[in-house]
Amino acid sequence: MSISGPPSAPPPSQRRPRRVLVVGATGRLGVRIARALRSRDDRVILTARDASKLAAMATELGGDDVAKTVCVDLMTRDAPEQIA
Ligand SMILES: NC(=O)c1ccc[n+]([C@@H]2O[C@H](COP(=O)([O-])OP(=O)(O)OC[C@H]3O[C@@H](n4cnc5c(N)ncnc54)[C@H](OP(=O)(O)O)[C@@H]3O)[C@@H](O)[C@H]2O)c1
Repeated sequence: MSISGPPSAPPPSQRRPRRVLVVGATGRLGVRIARALRSRDDRVILTARDASKLAAMATELGGDDVAKTVCVDLMTRDAPEQIA
C-alpha cells in the first residue's frame, strides 16, 4: 500500500518564473548570466552603480516588467535595504 500524500509544492528554487538577483549585472559575467536567465524566462533584478548601463541592459532584456534595476554601490552599508 502506498502512503504517499498529495504532491507538495516545489521548493522555491524550482518555482517558475523565478526572480533572480544579478549583482554586477553590467559586467562581463553579469551580462551573460542575466541574458541566460532571461532566455529561460526568469525575471531578473539587475544591480550595478552605472545607471545608464543598467537601463540599457534592462531594455535589452525586455524592459521593466521582467528586468528591474537597482542602481546601488554594494560597498555601502544600506545596500541591502536599497535592493529589498
Ligand atoms: N570574468 C571572469 O572570467 C571571472 C573569472 C573568475 C572570477 N571573476 C570575478 O567575478 C566578478 C565579476 O567579474 P566580471 O569579469 O564580470 O567583472 P567586471 O566586468 O569588471 O564587472 C563588474 C560588475 O560589478 C559592478 N560593480 C563593481 N563594483 C561595484 C560596487 N561597489 N557596487 C555595485 N556594483 C559594482 C560593475 O558595474 P558598475 O561599475 O557600474 O558598478 C559591473 O557590473 C569579479 O569579482 C571577478 O573577479 C571573473
